[in-house]
Amino acid sequence: MEYLEIEGGRPLRGEVHIQGSKNAALPILSAVILHRGTTVLKNCPKIIDVMYMLEILKDFGCRMSWEGENLVIDASELLDSRVEECYGRQMRSSIMLLGSLLGRMKEACVSYPGGCVIGARPIDLHLAALKRLGAVFIEEPTGLKAICRQPVGTTIDLPFPSVGATENVILLAVLAEGTTILENAAREPEIVELCRFLNGMGGDIRGAGASRLEIRGVKELRDTEFTIMPDRIVAGTYMLMTAAVGGSVCLKDVPLEQLESVQSVLEKMGVHQESRGQEVQLSCTKRPRSIGELSTSPYPGFPTDLQSPLLTALSLAQGSSIVRETIFEARFKTVEELRRMGANIQIEGQKAIIQGVPRLCGTDLTARELRGGAALVLAAAAAEGSSRVYQYHYIARGYENIIRDLQSLGVVVRYSRRQ
Ligand code: EPZ
Repeated sequence: MEYLEIEGGRPLRGEVHIQGSKNAALPILSAVILHRGTTVLKNCPKIIDVMYMLEILKDFGCRMSWEGENLVIDASELLDSRVEECYGRQMRSSIMLLGSLLGRMKEACVSYPGGCVIGARPIDLHLAALKRLGAVFIEEPTGLKAICRQPVGTTIDLPFPSVGATENVILLAVLAEGTTILENAAREPEIVELCRFLNGMGGDIRGAGASRLEIRGVKELRDTEFTIMPDRIVAGTYMLMTAAVGGSVCLKDVPLEQLESVQSVLEKMGVHQESRGQEVQLSCTKRPRSIGELSTSPYPGFPTDLQSPLLTALSLAQGSSIVRETIFEARFKTVEELRRMGANIQIEGQKAIIQGVPRLCGTDLTARELRGGAALVLAAAAAEGSSRVYQYHYIARGYENIIRDLQSLGVVVRYSRRQ
């Protein structure tokens, strides 16, 4: 069993570069198979979920190599359009291969993506939207078979601005006949990045970042070289850690224009911030303040992926705060672990009421999913005494090297493995 051993209670000091974005890299890796040629990706994060995606692309017949920090993928010859069950279940985001497999191979076979601890995570919006473009689905015992001989552009209205469903529509519509209008599209920066990537390959997508997307189908795409943007959730995690632990840090390669909702929360908490371009200096020398009420919401609102790290910071604030989770139905699982450290958090449905306490106590903790695991790492770094955070692999799914990053910020942390 692997775990992180963290000595808490030391103010942060140091600087760290922010890695490439997981949630931009995954749909971009899916989009790579739309082109019968070569793609060079820079700043692609070396995280578990990217490694899973690369294994899936290899199974399809892609040839790839790392040339220094550059990932070179040749998708000229694809031999298969089936996502192996083991990967489909391991990684829910393999569902976004549906759109690109249908766009390239005209058929796909994926396993039902399991739900996870943060919610059931259905795919009804994906299927309904892809059907509008001409996809036909056949439910099989081992998973879902999809066929789409000729996608034809149309108007699609998403009942909810689902990030994944928006990505699947873009991936199938970019090579479709005619134009697709997607209403109530997700506005997340990762959508903008996917559109920037595809337009750089010759795609014709307009309105990225707005609720109405216009995707004009093109005949084919071309070779490209693309640098993936920094990860706003990793950056936000370390910004919130400054509030939780205290001290002074410098974060580099931060997409600050994507983090306005987080910066305004940190300002309310009393964290001093000075930014210059893609660099931000944060310092917090006193106990953070509480923030009243906050709800997570689709971009540009406060991101659900930073809700757990925010709870950690608020559990040490002066006064009480209320955080409502409006995106996932079960994203408060980390609270029980924080309570074991001395946090005073009550859950009422989708509402967390956090009464700040002066200190948390280190103990053995278990991560159950990616962002909740990151929140426990923050709590351990803030707590008095030492902690062990087990199930480290969940955290490695999204954080390229949280140990290296924490050490750069002055946290005493080491990785251990016990048989
Ligand atoms: C993406 O997940 C991200 N994952 C998530 O980040 C992020 O939390 C989420 O968007 C919201 O921002 C990746 O990009 C790989 P959704 P996705 O479709 O696409 C419901 C992380 O930690 N829904 O916008 O799955 C769904 O159940 C991960 O990096 C349906 O009901 O999110 C959820 O309640 C966690 N039917 C809500 O919509 C559908 O067909 C938002 O889901 C699809 C979604």
